[in-house]
Amino acid sequence: MTEAATVTGSRATGITAEQRAREDDVVARVLESFDGCTDARRQELMRGVVTHLHAFLRDVRLTEDEWGEAIGFLTAVGHMCDDRRQEFILLSDTLGASMQTVAINNAAFADATEATVFGPFFVEDSPAIPLGGDLAGGATGQPCWVTGTVRDTAGKPVAGARIEVWEADQDGFYDVQYGDDRIAGRGHLFSDPDGNYRFWAVTPTPYPIPHDGPVGAMLAATGRSPMRASHLHFMVTAVGLRALVTHIFVRGDELLDRDSVFGVKDSLIRDFTEQSADTPTPDGRDLGGRTWSRVHFDIVLAPAPV
Ligand SMILES: [Fe+2]
Repeated sequence: MTEAATVTGSRATGITAEQRAREDDVVARVLESFDGCTDARRQELMRGVVTHLHAFLRDVRLTEDEWGEAIGFLTAVGHMCDDRRQEFILLSDTLGASMQTVAINNAAFADATEATVFGPFFVEDSPAIPLGGDLAGGATGQPCWVTGTVRDTAGKPVAGARIEVWEADQDGFYDVQYGDDRIAGRGHLFSDPDGNYRFWAVTPTPYPIPHDGPVGAMLAATGRSPMRASHLHFMVTAVGLRALVTHIFVRGDELLDRDSVFGVKDSLIRDFTEQSADTPTPDGRDLGGRTWSRVHFDIVLAPAPV
């Protein structure tokens, strides 16, 4: 007997033996249909999705109306997609499937920094920022001084690590969402010979994921918020080490425990310490009488997979 044939949900326990046998038979026949697949991994994936899909259908005792509603929902998700909007990724994100895939593929290793979701707003070829430079590029928001060190899990500083950073402005929008080709709130720099880095950005603020489509409707219908906790995106790469895609989050943000894409990890929450307008900046930068903040984020990279 296949694994699927033994999977029945709690609400399926009251059904007759004949009914159970009929449902088992459907699962078995679908699984057998992949017997001729010569790609072992593809066969495993297809058998897995069938096993779990049928277990779900049988567990919740899906009605035919609900099946139709699900087809309609997925159709709407597809229609919402174009070259700028990927509603299926939003669906994956809001169901935690993206975060689960990140967890599976970035296994815990010593004290390596935890990964989190990539998100849809990374852009290739971001501006090069010198150490200590400002990546705001005109993005609105409170200036934020960001410092840290990149090292490996043996504690050795990593010189020349490429650090990509991107973030929303104080209104909660990434540059690419304005549709006017501006480049702001993003850049890349390299750690110095001692593994240190430093730059100016803007203090992160919360923002909603795009919620004017079917995924937003799903969130509303289930009493969920589209808001993401405030965060600053990082992607750090260095020769011989595992690439790290992560964020840092703002300690005290009320959204930390209900981030709409489940991206928050306790180990990634940092103190963004508010500085008064008369506090001298570390590099003498004149902020024109504005308040600013500072945050420190030490990054630890795992060895590259062999
Ligand atoms: Fe983001």
